[in-house]
Amino acid sequence: MSALSPRPGIMKIAPYVPGKDSIDGKPTIAKLSSNEGALGPSPKAMAAYAKAAAELHRYPDGASDKLRQAIGRHYGLDAARIVCGCGSDELINLLIRAYCGPGDELIYSQYGFLMYPINALGVGATPIAAPEKDYRADVDAILGKVTDRTRVVCLANPNNPTGSYITRDEVRRLQAGLPKNVLLVIDAAYAEYVSRNDYESGLELVDRADNVVMTRTFSKIYGMGGLRLGWMYGPPAVVDVINRLRQPFNVNLAAQMAGIAALEDIAHTDASRTNNDIWLPWLSAELAKLGLKPLPSVGNFVTVGFGSQERAKAANDWLMNDGLIPRLVAAYGLTEHLRITIGTEAEMKAVRDSLQRFVAQSK
Ligand SMILES: Cc1ncc(COP(=O)(O)O)c(C=O)c1O
Repeated sequence: MSALSPRPGIMKIAPYVPGKDSIDGKPTIAKLSSNEGALGPSPKAMAAYAKAAAELHRYPDGASDKLRQAIGRHYGLDAARIVCGCGSDELINLLIRAYCGPGDELIYSQYGFLMYPINALGVGATPIAAPEKDYRADVDAILGKVTDRTRVVCLANPNNPTGSYITRDEVRRLQAGLPKNVLLVIDAAYAEYVSRNDYESGLELVDRADNVVMTRTFSKIYGMGGLRLGWMYGPPAVVDVINRLRQPFNVNLAAQMAGIAALEDIAHTDASRTNNDIWLPWLSAELAKLGLKPLPSVGNFVTVGFGSQERAKAANDWLMNDGLIPRLVAAYGLTEHLRITIGTEAEMKAVRDSLQRFVAQSK
């Protein structure tokens, strides 16, 4: 009898390594490794979460009805075309499982979010990386990788970990160039932070095309990564497919209640955006003043180049020694860089001060 063996592709996966959340033997001053919202969750979301405690014996609403209605009202969307999930990670996984299989190809851009190739391998498909230009997705390179085996294209816009985005016109050109049987997944996890006139999160394109889905999350600007809540907006046929495939109670009761409350707390979301609008450009400028190479970012993080892998690792250790936790991004092929989440004023000044000392001693 032959031994157990998993389905093809799975053993090729290098497991996803989340950002560190503590430093051995040191108190943490700031965890800046997972792009969690700088201001934490809304007090209203926390109150709703606490209220959920008395209801924990109840199964949640399997259709996340009230939450979908609330998302629909907030973003001006038809709730029937929204599916909620256990983080946008779950929805990305379901979309890839639904439309990709053994022998198929999934295209992502070179420094795109790692969960796309991981999920492709998980279903036995082949992940195909399209080269980027200046750490930005390149529409022509993506279209150049399309073959008759391509089933899904995943684009994070803005992208993690580079922080770059492509414009509304570029995304539309990408969609227009794809065959109709290829699903374009626009992962807009950081959309709420972007205030560029030429940016579009994908909502409008979903309304114009049958092969485009957009995913969003409550983990970033809403500061609720620990609760695991995301949603997607798609064409009715894709929504129907995902509703067949998802678990019947994929969004827990507390997440549904807290999500509705978070959407209502406009002041908290505005404060989170304002915090980012101040400290993202500030940190980027300070890093440049130190002679480092911050990539232009529109997300709630900045990825900064140190010139060599050794120096990036040394800077990582230095920051950790000061109680500040950044993210090594070598798994993305960005070996000379560190990613730093935008935090509060005190956290950002602590990062600047620490790196100032690092640069001074490493000259
Ligand atoms: C681009 C991108 N997409 C999706 C996710 C997953 O987010 P969620 O917490 O909603 O699963 C992340 C998380 O870091 C991300 O950076």
